[in-house]
Amino acid sequence: MLIDTHCHLDDERYMDDLEEVLQRAKDAEVEKIVIPGADPKTLPRAVELSQKYDNIYFAVGVHPYDASNYDRSFLEQFIENKKCVAVGECGLDYYRLSKDKDEADADVKRQKEVFIDQIELANRYKLPLIVHIRDASFDSFDILKKYSRYGGVLHCYNADHQLLKLAEDGFYYGIGGVITFKNARKLIEVYPKIPKNRLLIETDGPYLTPHPHRGKRNEPAYCKYIVQKMAELSKTDYESIASLTTLNAKSLFGL
Ligand code: NI
Repeated sequence: MLIDTHCHLDDERYMDDLEEVLQRAKDAEVEKIVIPGADPKTLPRAVELSQKYDNIYFAVGVHPYDASNYDRSFLEQFIENKKCVAVGECGLDYYRLSKDKDEADADVKRQKEVFIDQIELANRYKLPLIVHIRDASFDSFDILKKYSRYGGVLHCYNADHQLLKLAEDGFYYGIGGVITFKNARKLIEVYPKIPKNRLLIETDGPYLTPHPHRGKRNEPAYCKYIVQKMAELSKTDYESIASLTTLNAKSLFGL
């Protein structure tokens, strides 16, 4: 069995054929799926899906790209729902910052405020975090060290040695389709250094589709390509990675 710890099933790209997507997930032995919060506009849809399907869970959060739409009280309306298992995806993303220095500074300031506020929200409700970090490892590391109390999972496509240190603070590392890419050199180098009991599977669908479907819409059934690659890199078999990561996901999210 597998757990896809990060798939945006509330995205409109799954609207037309969700039943088929979920059937293919089942056929690929994906037993549970967590929908991370990203855009507050689609959060009610994530909550609705989690009520309709036993094996779907959700998180409340605002992605750093949407930091300007952040409203804590809106997230709090859903946080005590039994199927809410985390806060996020929250974090810092400096990849798309403006070239204008004042604009970029204001954006960084806002992203940090919104990130810290979501960490405090997670602390208050004793929930783990789902963290998105891109080109912002040092600032993210400092903030997580200082504020986070219940650990969480880091999106691993931008992993580096700085972020590996967070394993000591209860953080897990979500491995996604990027690991199957030919140019995944950085992740492949970091991968063996991640403690085994800190590895999770995440498709990040509809984005970051693994090889050999790269370029098409991603979906939970494609977890299998990630697991295959991890097994190859870990010099072990598919089943070992599947049971290890499932156990890890259950212990982090209490599934
Ligand atoms: Ni995501």
